[in-house]
Amino acid sequence: MNEMTETAPQSRSAYEASRAAGPCVMVIFGVGGDLTKRKLFPALYNLAKENLLPKDFAIVGVGRHETSTPDFQKKIAQELTEFATSDVEPGLVNWLTERLYYSLGSFQDAETYKKLAELLIQIDQKYSTEGNYFYYLATAPEFFGEITRQLGAAGLVQQTEKRWRRVIYEKPFGDGLASAHALNHEIEEVLAENQIYRIDHYLGKETVQNILAFRFGNGIFEPVWNRRYIDHVQITVAETVGVETRGGYYDQSGALRDMVPNHIFQLISLVTMEPPVSFDADAVRDEQTKVLRAMQPLSEQDVLMRTVRGQYGEGSDGKSRLPAYRSEPRVNPKSSTETFVALKLLMDNWRWAGVPFYLRTGKRLKIRASEIVIQFKSVPFQLFRKTAVERLAPNQFIVHIQPQEGISLQFGAKIPGPIVKLGTVNMDFRYADYFGSKPSTGYERLLYECMIGDATLFQRADMVEASWSVVQPILDVWQALPPRNFPNYPAGSWGPWEANDLLERDGRQWREPGQ
Ligand code: BG6
Repeated sequence: MNEMTETAPQSRSAYEASRAAGPCVMVIFGVGGDLTKRKLFPALYNLAKENLLPKDFAIVGVGRHETSTPDFQKKIAQELTEFATSDVEPGLVNWLTERLYYSLGSFQDAETYKKLAELLIQIDQKYSTEGNYFYYLATAPEFFGEITRQLGAAGLVQQTEKRWRRVIYEKPFGDGLASAHALNHEIEEVLAENQIYRIDHYLGKETVQNILAFRFGNGIFEPVWNRRYIDHVQITVAETVGVETRGGYYDQSGALRDMVPNHIFQLISLVTMEPPVSFDADAVRDEQTKVLRAMQPLSEQDVLMRTVRGQYGEGSDGKSRLPAYRSEPRVNPKSSTETFVALKLLMDNWRWAGVPFYLRTGKRLKIRASEIVIQFKSVPFQLFRKTAVERLAPNQFIVHIQPQEGISLQFGAKIPGPIVKLGTVNMDFRYADYFGSKPSTGYERLLYECMIGDATLFQRADMVEASWSVVQPILDVWQALPPRNFPNYPAGSWGPWEANDLLERDGRQWREPGQ
């Protein structure tokens, strides 16, 4: 992993200026889509602002809409003013858009790739980009295999000692174990694993990367980071939005596929992995893969007992009525797709045996919040008689991922006064307080890492397949037993009551984020 140590935040820009990526061209397939305007260009803009883009750089958008390069440049400049994460400087927007090209073509047509190859040669000459290209596949996943094959056939992914070629795949990577395996096989016929960058944008989030820093950069956490001291772990990824314009995709996918084997399993693997021997991409990913493989397989009975699915009905956010999932655009009015999922998982290894991992995620929940809660075991013996042990809140170590980024630790302290009584207090670290807030899309770091050839923050084939292996039995049982009670939670709530029951049966409860 690309590492730097730093004590004074103000030295950052100077440090990064010397670390701009080397000459290259970024080629975006599916450039007309939402991802390009909402995330990719704002991220490229932020990288340019930080001097992390190479000075010898160009971007090619490949799309199926008729437009010209000048019109495309104008469109991107306009969209940047709307979607950038901070005010834009016109000079920098010009720098970015003047090196932007549009190439029209269908992804299935060999001619598209021939034209692209010719354009790339011209660009190499004009911008000294030295034949280094990375392709961003921001298309529907059914095109991943085809585009990879066509790139291969056109000689566009061939590397030499002097030039590199890489391909970034957006999620979802497959819709189950079999399709992920088939897709891996298909792209590995054309590319070496070190050319393949399977993206998961959760790994671009600062606090997520910080999990590794606080676990392996500090001496005080590791000794208690195991089954002897930890009672359980909770992960909540709650969204207030519904499916917005993505009903077509989401109704086929559902909450489980959309969030669990990717974003949430990334979080679990970083929280639970053993210390890697180094921060090299493969050393880190070897350890992540090991813990993913250690997740206990779920039997049919486990799926019935340890998983909860939900779908939102009509509800309210306190200000206005919110529509039911089944009335969202491009959603089947009788849909049985889940918009909420809660699971209890166990891990079969020495560090974590017997420690439950509870996870929940859903759309149209009460608040937007993502957090990881590590709950430590309660004290074994009641010493403070005025505060019954069961009323003393156990220590919780909380990693706040969004909307606030930070880490807090809850512990008991004496309430001032002549009588000994304990209350729960909070030790809080907020990123913004220490390092200021630096608006970002989460894609900056990932694009940069791809340009410098560091795949640590990308998923390897075996990780993707290990994750799908855990989820596949749930998909199978759910498919065989369609839900009978959907919709089963009102929009604007915390999801179905069964999700609370999942923890209450074990004598535990969800922490309410934002408290
Ligand atoms: C995407 C999912 O991968 O992640 C979306 O497809 C989800 O459904 C999104 O809304 C959540 O990302 P973030 O960064 O807003 O938590």
